[in-house]
Amino acid sequence: MARVALVTGGTRGIGAAISKALKAAGYKVAASYAGNDAAADKFKAETGIAVYKWDVSSFEACAEGVKKVEADLGPVEVLVNNAGITRDTAFHKMTLEQWNAVINTNLGSLFNMTRQVIEGMRARKFGRIISISSINGQKGQFGQVNYSAAKAGDIGFTKALALENAKGGITVNAICPGYINTEMVQAVPKDVLEKNVIPQIPAARLGEPEEIARAVVFLAADESGFITGSTLTVNGGQYMV
Ligand SMILES: NC(=O)c1ccc[n+]([C@@H]2O[C@H](COP(=O)([O-])OP(=O)(O)OC[C@H]3O[C@@H](n4cnc5c(N)ncnc54)[C@H](OP(=O)(O)O)[C@@H]3O)[C@@H](O)[C@H]2O)c1
Repeated sequence: MARVALVTGGTRGIGAAISKALKAAGYKVAASYAGNDAAADKFKAETGIAVYKWDVSSFEACAEGVKKVEADLGPVEVLVNNAGITRDTAFHKMTLEQWNAVINTNLGSLFNMTRQVIEGMRARKFGRIISISSINGQKGQFGQVNYSAAKAGDIGFTKALALENAKGGITVNAICPGYINTEMVQAVPKDVLEKNVIPQIPAARLGEPEEIARAVVFLAADESGFITGSTLTVNGGQYMV
C-alpha cells in the first residue's frame, strides 16, 4: 500500500517540487497551503494532488486540517514541514508582528503539525518527519534575526525529537537549502542576487526546487531508517558544516 505524505506549503516553490517528487516516488500526497487559492488550484489541476487550505501557525487549524487529510487519504506516515515565510528587516527596526509571524510560521508550525501525527506514528512504529530549515538558520543572515532564529530552532527540534523516537521506527531530519530559485528568492532585488548572493555560491548558481525535493525523497524512503537527527545541507557549497 502506498504511504501517505503530507507536505505543508506544498503547492508552490520548493514544496510543490517536493509534492510532485513524492507522488512520482509512489506516495499518496496531500499538499497544504495558506491562502493563495489560484496557485493551489493550478497546482491541483496540473498534478492531480489533493490540496488543503489552513494556517500552519494555528494549532487548532492544523488539528482540523490533518484530520481531514487522514479521513481522505489515511494516516500520515511522512510529514514534510516546508511552509515558511520571511519578514526581513534589521533587528533594530523589527516589529513584534514581524517577529511573531516568522517564529509562529517557521518554528511554531513544527509543533503544531508534528504534534498531530506523532502519536499515530509511534503506535504504528513508522514515521518520517522532514523539516525544511535554511542555510540562514545555520550561519545567520543580516536582516533575518527572526528567520535565522526560527530556522535554527527547526534544527534543535529535529535533534531532540529524533532522540525521543529513534527506537520507534520514526526518523526526524532537517534539510537546509541554500538559495533556491523560487518566488521567495525572486523577491530579492535582481542586482542584490547578482552582486551579493550568487558570487558567494561556489556552484555559481541558485539551486532548483527539484534539488531539495530529491533530498526529501531520499530521507522519506523506508530504506533511510538509520538516518535520524541529521541536518542535510543542499546549498551549492555555500556553507559547509
Ligand atoms: N527559496 C529559498 O531559497 C529557501 C532557502 C532556504 C529555505 N527555504 C525554506 O523552504 C521553504 C519553502 O520556501 P519557498 O521558497 O518554496 O517558499 P514560497 O515559494 O514562498 O512558498 C511557500 C509555501 O508555504 C505556504 N505557506 C506560507 N505560510 C503558510 C502558513 N502560515 N500556513 C500554511 N502554508 C503557508 C505558501 O502557501 P500560499 O501559496 O497559500 O501562500 C506556499 O505554498 C520555507 O520554509 C523556506 O523558509 C527556502
